[in-house]
Amino acid sequence: MPVDISKMLSDAAYQAYERNLVQQVKSRPVPEHVAIIMDGNRRFAESIGLRPLTGHEKGREKLEEVLEWCLEAGVKILTVYAFSTENFSRDTEEVGHIMRLFAENFRRAGDEGRVHKNQIRITVLGRRDMLPREVVEAIEYCEARTKGYDKYRLNLAIAYGGREEILDAIRGLVRDARSGKIAPEDVDEKFFSRRLWTADIPDPDLILRTSGEERISNFFLWQLAYSELYFVDVYWPGFRKIDFLRAIRSYQMRHRRFGK
Ligand code: FPP
Repeated sequence: MPVDISKMLSDAAYQAYERNLVQQVKSRPVPEHVAIIMDGNRRFAESIGLRPLTGHEKGREKLEEVLEWCLEAGVKILTVYAFSTENFSRDTEEVGHIMRLFAENFRRAGDEGRVHKNQIRITVLGRRDMLPREVVEAIEYCEARTKGYDKYRLNLAIAYGGREEILDAIRGLVRDARSGKIAPEDVDEKFFSRRLWTADIPDPDLILRTSGEERISNFFLWQLAYSELYFVDVYWPGFRKIDFLRAIRSYQMRHRRFGK
């Protein structure tokens, strides 16, 4: 096979650029918690002539890669928005396909050597009552196998809706107020945060969305109050390490003021 010199040179330049970005990013504090709205699976697949559903498999593979990048960069907590409550209204074949991916991959993740080696605790945020039984069982298996870890965290928002999460917390508060367990003055920001599905997870420092869409789509509505936002114009399965590193570098250049 002929050697493509120009491709070799451009690959080498690309790798040098990537290494340089890794150095830059590691020379400053990295965000503790990065949250990602993984968007564009179907468009990615269509853009390269594949069936749209194949895009979700590519999306799953990308998530594994991004987790590796987080470990390398020192990002301790990664949350991904994998399936919204609204996504249930997609056609039955697609929802079934994604649910099968969840069931298979939570089982696999629970047994995965890299998860145990790196002590990654995996949890799911969302309305489990909306999920098929085999998905809930796979999630419970994976959570139980990783619950003792606290070095890294991977959270998957599945059957998740930000408004639903807030309403769920409010319902609990109203019940507790009615039975006299809490008084109105007990309810401050910290107290309320502890009633959300993210009760033991710090708010995200950086929220990133792929696919070029610049909206939040009902994700982390309470938690995003002081998050830095970053939008990147590539579909999720096409998200490259340099896109990830640039997002972190952009975060590092910003001056966070928390309203002060
Ligand atoms: C967004 O792209 C993606 C989803 C709604 C599904 C997300 C599922 C995965 C990434 C698979 C993760 C799997 C595991 C096991 C964690 P889209 O379908 O909205 O694509 P589009 O914007 O091009 O229509």
